[in-house]
Amino acid sequence: MKDMNPVVRLAIDDSSIMADLHAASFTSGEAWASSAFADLLKLPTTYARGMMDQAELLSFAVVQFVADEAEILTLATAPSARQQGFARAILQSIEHELAPKGLEKWLLEVAADNAGALQFYRQLGFKIDGERRNYYKRLEGAYVNAILMSKPAGRQAPA
Ligand SMILES: CC(C)(COP(=O)(O)OP(=O)(O)OC[C@H]1O[C@@H](n2cnc3c(N)ncnc32)[C@H](O)[C@@H]1OP(=O)(O)O)[C@@H](O)C(=O)NCCC(=O)NCCS
Repeated sequence: MKDMNPVVRLAIDDSSIMADLHAASFTSGEAWASSAFADLLKLPTTYARGMMDQAELLSFAVVQFVADEAEILTLATAPSARQQGFARAILQSIEHELAPKGLEKWLLEVAADNAGALQFYRQLGFKIDGERRNYYKRLEGAYVNAILMSKPAGRQAPA
């Protein structure tokens, strides 16, 4: 694997670049405003980590860590930087950071029609726990189920 840029901590000042990459990654009405990122980053339980190429944000994850569970609130890689291992490297880095704080389990919700993300999470060892019906509403008005996934911390690949 080629050398990667380091995973860096993202702060409130980075809210607008996170919102820009989010908008480029979620084009069916799920994009979050910059203020949503800023509000999350005020919480001590929020971990936002990313990978930059100079001033450009290539990939980032926002995770909420409460008790022993880390929930992936959102995750995105720039379209031109996908499938180069950036998102996996960021989640691995967060796992490394949270392990000494007692991380036991990863959780997330993903839209049932997001085949690429579902495949990404399967590659990382996540399993499906259940479904929330009609959880997401698309721009054109259609409803999409949410798939609930989890994996024990420390597992990087399917069992
Ligand atoms: C899902 C997403 C974050 C993955 O980011 P990424 O940086 O491209 O992922 P990685 O390169 O780290 O991929 C890790 C593994 O997942 C696989 N993978 C990633 N995207 C995939 C896709 N679209 N289809 C199939 N496999 C995929 C990779 O091939 C790699 O597999 P490997 O272990 O065999 O090498 C990115 O596609 C994205 O931003 N999508 C739009 C936003 C989104 O859906 N976010 C998640 C919603 S919760």
